[in-house]
Amino acid sequence: MYAMPENFIWGAATAAFQVEGGLECDGAGESSWLNFCRVKGNIKNDDIPTTGCDQYHLYREDVALMKRLGIKAYRFSLNWSRIFPRENVLNEKGLAYYQNLVDALLEAGIEPYVTIFHWDLPQYLEDAGGWRKKETAQKLGDFASFMAKAFGNKVKHYFTVNEISMFTAGGYNGSKHPPCIKLPDKDIYQVIHHGNLAHGYVAQALRATAPHAEIGIANNPGITVPVWETPENVEAAKRATRLENACCHTAIEEGRYPDEFLEKLGADAPCFTDEEMKIIATPTDFTGFNVYTARYCVADAEMPGGYRFIDRAAEHPYMNLTWLRQVPSATYYGAKFIYELWGKTTYVSENGCAADDKIDGNGEINDTGRLEYLRGYLTSLQRACAEKIPVKGYFLWSLLDNFEWMQGFAPRFGIVHVDYATRQRTPKLSARYYAACIRRNAVL
Ligand code: NOJ
Repeated sequence: MYAMPENFIWGAATAAFQVEGGLECDGAGESSWLNFCRVKGNIKNDDIPTTGCDQYHLYREDVALMKRLGIKAYRFSLNWSRIFPRENVLNEKGLAYYQNLVDALLEAGIEPYVTIFHWDLPQYLEDAGGWRKKETAQKLGDFASFMAKAFGNKVKHYFTVNEISMFTAGGYNGSKHPPCIKLPDKDIYQVIHHGNLAHGYVAQALRATAPHAEIGIANNPGITVPVWETPENVEAAKRATRLENACCHTAIEEGRYPDEFLEKLGADAPCFTDEEMKIIATPTDFTGFNVYTARYCVADAEMPGGYRFIDRAAEHPYMNLTWLRQVPSATYYGAKFIYELWGKTTYVSENGCAADDKIDGNGEINDTGRLEYLRGYLTSLQRACAEKIPVKGYFLWSLLDNFEWMQGFAPRFGIVHVDYATRQRTPKLSARYYAACIRRNAVL
């Protein structure tokens, strides 16, 4: 049994587009993702989360379920176009949904952690140029201000934006995210810069409107770990973690793009002003990092940066998606490097995995693969805590099986199974495992 620090936050995470459903209810507006899903062939099996898990209607049940599991904090995001279906036109019912959710959580003794933006952009902003426009970042700041005012003192924890590279580069480098455009490299770096700015504008807005709240990003810096632990390899992995994230995470933490990065890009480097870099580096209280896997490296003085990557073997264990390569030391090194490089306290803002879960004859789901995955990553995180690296909490991805973007409903990431025909929730073995860890405040 590996004890976690007192007051460790054991949380669960979801995102609006992935669990809410109710996308055509009560005046909700169109979003980039909803429109993208409507085009045949964009999403596996042409799945579309118009109803999905239907948390929009079932949030009270989901809050009660979390309470039964002992979950201390719920990280969820806001569907911007549910609240503002048209530019500057407020949908009272959309806003009320989130206010009711916050009230239900507080009543259940669960702390709300609000993510301002988790990828689903109002369609009217997409039409106006989406993340190619700096104005989109400013508008997200305004939206954050509005929401922080609406929540008042009830919400004390905010994540600004989720995984910048995914909603910026992912939509513009030919990957299958809306608007699914392939831009030249220079423009892609500019779009990422606008994503960085979005984080900055939101951080500024939250600071001004919710000075009582703690704020930070939920980003996905690629973590590099030493293939084995010698002081040289650990230092090399730390340098790699800094340099490989130069265009986004490092820029946010340091308020500047590393020189090596700008030199390497040359004419493809993004355009930016000093003023923008100040906004991007608005001080925050913590860094949230989403972590599922990592790359390996060794020290190599001959290489630029002094590190060399080691490829993962073809049979390197992975969960139900090939990118979910198991590297449990990623939580330890993620927390350690973010603290040592930038002095930041961390949350693991997401960790978990997809598995091919089946309900057995006894009505149970014995997802031992997930359990072992979680135990590995949590044990590593406990190591960080034992070494006094400041880690405030951990958000398991995900509370529920949900809509996994272009993979549709096929990958099941939940510790709670969802039957998409009946909306029935069935906690898996991993949910019982997580509840047992929470009860003892330890990794079991
Ligand atoms: C990160 C994203 O934030 C989340 O939306 C996604 O479902 C998980 N990773 C799993 O891929």
